[in-house]
Amino acid sequence: MNFAEEARSMQEMLREFRRDIHMYPELPMEEFRTSGKIKNFLKENNIEILPLNLPTTVVAVIRGEESRKRIALKADMDALQIQEQTNAEYASRNEGVMHACGHDVHTACLIGAAAMLKRHQKELQGTVYLIFQAAEENLCGAKQIIETGFFSDEKIEEIFSIHTNTSIEAGKVAFMRGASQASADMMTIHIHGKGGHGAFPNTTVDPVYIASQLICQIQSIVSRNIDPIQTGVVSVCKMTAGTSGNIIPENAELSGTYRAMTPQVRELIRERLKSLCRGIEIGYGCECRAELPDGCPPIINDPVLADTAKKACSRVLGEENVLELSPAMVGDDMGFILEKVPGVLGALGVRNEKKGIVHGNHTPYFDVDEECLWIGAACMAQMAWDSLAK
Ligand code: NI
Repeated sequence: MNFAEEARSMQEMLREFRRDIHMYPELPMEEFRTSGKIKNFLKENNIEILPLNLPTTVVAVIRGEESRKRIALKADMDALQIQEQTNAEYASRNEGVMHACGHDVHTACLIGAAAMLKRHQKELQGTVYLIFQAAEENLCGAKQIIETGFFSDEKIEEIFSIHTNTSIEAGKVAFMRGASQASADMMTIHIHGKGGHGAFPNTTVDPVYIASQLICQIQSIVSRNIDPIQTGVVSVCKMTAGTSGNIIPENAELSGTYRAMTPQVRELIRERLKSLCRGIEIGYGCECRAELPDGCPPIINDPVLADTAKKACSRVLGEENVLELSPAMVGDDMGFILEKVPGVLGALGVRNEKKGIVHGNHTPYFDVDEECLWIGAACMAQMAWDSLAK
């Protein structure tokens, strides 16, 4: 079985589906129109929808040979709070909301794969679950599915997914064994000092000065604590303090993000942040409290399944179009799922310089070369098929 031709013949339908979702993007946990459209498509194609009882996430199943493996394909479907500026005819009609991360593309690719796998259900050597996941951007969606017990109840053994990538040309896909994306956690640090007149700093505990010291110290985590062969990033992206040029304020606040490719480095960064805050308290006589809520774990691709995915996609696109993925410090909440189920998150090339499609994910100019649609659909179907056939 090779899904290339069948997927290519669906291109018009996929384009229409994608453009419709693109025009009406929805924020995390508000994907009611999108999930309604997905459900309609599944029903029209007689694909069984599972009653998972989640507000917008849709999970469906195509049951093949029952005694064999059970695997899942996943797409996310939520949009971002960005005002689209592409001027495309299918640009967002929802003010301030945009599919700027290609989740509309992921959704279209998965419905394409679903339709094809359904057509060949009789020959399917196992069971394929189709996950249309809500709320990736706020890192809630994957966790919600896990909390329903779905992955253990259904005994899912493998999971495959792809994500649009603007540094890879349309027509190509890429995969990587091991850690390909970072954990992504946010931090907020509250510094409480003592305010006063800017002329009498000696009577104050100046949180602005202390915050500036802490920012410098935080940069020692990556440069002095992490093994140079490993990698991590800590970025303070926001600082807030003060009201006027001659008043030393009482409080300062820093917020930022920290990222790592392994759970160990992630933990090291977290612990160092806490210690530095304690040190600041002792050193400067202020209160310094770090809020470190859990973000999402790194994407660690199963090496064997990464090879399976590569081989499957090579059959669809030719070996020359299946690349080695470069790791990046961006996060994806599929990390939660990969802690439970071995799997792969690959990259779907969407770039086309001739057409001016070069803008990065999460920018108001983001777009894709729609050739990626049939390619994504074919690759998804092929990964599922080949993995079940093994
Ligand atoms: Ni995304």
